[in-house]
Amino acid sequence: MDISTRVFFIPGATSGIGLALALRLKAAGSTVIIGGRRTALLDQLADEHGFSTVRIDTADPVSVLTARDQVLAQHPEVDTLITMAGIMAAEDVHSADFLATAENTVITNVLGPVRLIAAFVEHLQAQEDAAIITVSSGLAHTPVAAFPSYNGSKAFIHRFTETLRLQLSGSPVQVLEIVPPGVRTDLTPGQADFEHFLPLDTFVDEVVTLLQGQNASEILVEAVKPMRFAEANGEYHEMVAAINPAL
Ligand SMILES: NC(=O)c1ccc[n+]([C@@H]2O[C@H](COP(=O)([O-])OP(=O)(O)OC[C@H]3O[C@@H](n4cnc5c(N)ncnc54)[C@H](OP(=O)(O)O)[C@@H]3O)[C@@H](O)[C@H]2O)c1
Repeated sequence: MDISTRVFFIPGATSGIGLALALRLKAAGSTVIIGGRRTALLDQLADEHGFSTVRIDTADPVSVLTARDQVLAQHPEVDTLITMAGIMAAEDVHSADFLATAENTVITNVLGPVRLIAAFVEHLQAQEDAAIITVSSGLAHTPVAAFPSYNGSKAFIHRFTETLRLQLSGSPVQVLEIVPPGVRTDLTPGQADFEHFLPLDTFVDEVVTLLQGQNASEILVEAVKPMRFAEANGEYHEMVAAINPAL
């Protein structure tokens, strides 16, 4: 993918991986429209970096359609959607708030990307060269005990993306999946300081290199491969034990 000439829309780029990627793609020459719920942050990022911005809550189907209309009115040449927005909340099935947390996770991490893709697919198919890039996780393949709905939501994204790629083959829309390992962001409390997670810049540098490769589809940085291929390598139980040391 030539990342110097595209027009990206990234809902979920007010912080973390989305923002770091948006900055790289803009620096490479592409136009980047960023989205999120934190409007003050969107305004600040527009001022500091010159991004176009849109307020979007991907958990709200009306907001998704309103944002889609705003983005396409201002940037009818959008050719790449990155469904970055996501949340990761610890859950315990024994706890009274389990169901609310699980539902929230599924709404944001599963229905959010599905609704975004439904909102943009017709537009993207009408472009000469377009892409949908989803964001799953190494945890889609090797679960960590505290996050059952999160692990499940990312497993959904992985298989949904593979299937979407089949449906859109022969169309102008490439379908890619970024599969992050643990990366130092504010996704969960304290995570930005986890020394065993990848530094954000290191991760995004590798992603940007892989995105530019020939026929990129699943974007796998080196650090995620042990989780991604644990089952295929016959190392699933060892990997689950390694990332759940307290069990
Ligand atoms: N960091 C990791 O270790 C890791 C590993 C695997 C996968 N991932 C995935 O990478 C993606 C980005 O996460 P991150 O680590 O960069 O965390 P982050 O810094 O917390 O970023 C999450 C982004 O999603 C947006 N977002 C969350 N809920 C939203 C909603 N309802 N509507 C619109 N935007 C929403 C947030 O924006 P607002 O708050 O402004 O709405 C923010 O821009 C997520 O899908 C996450 O699951 C991360």
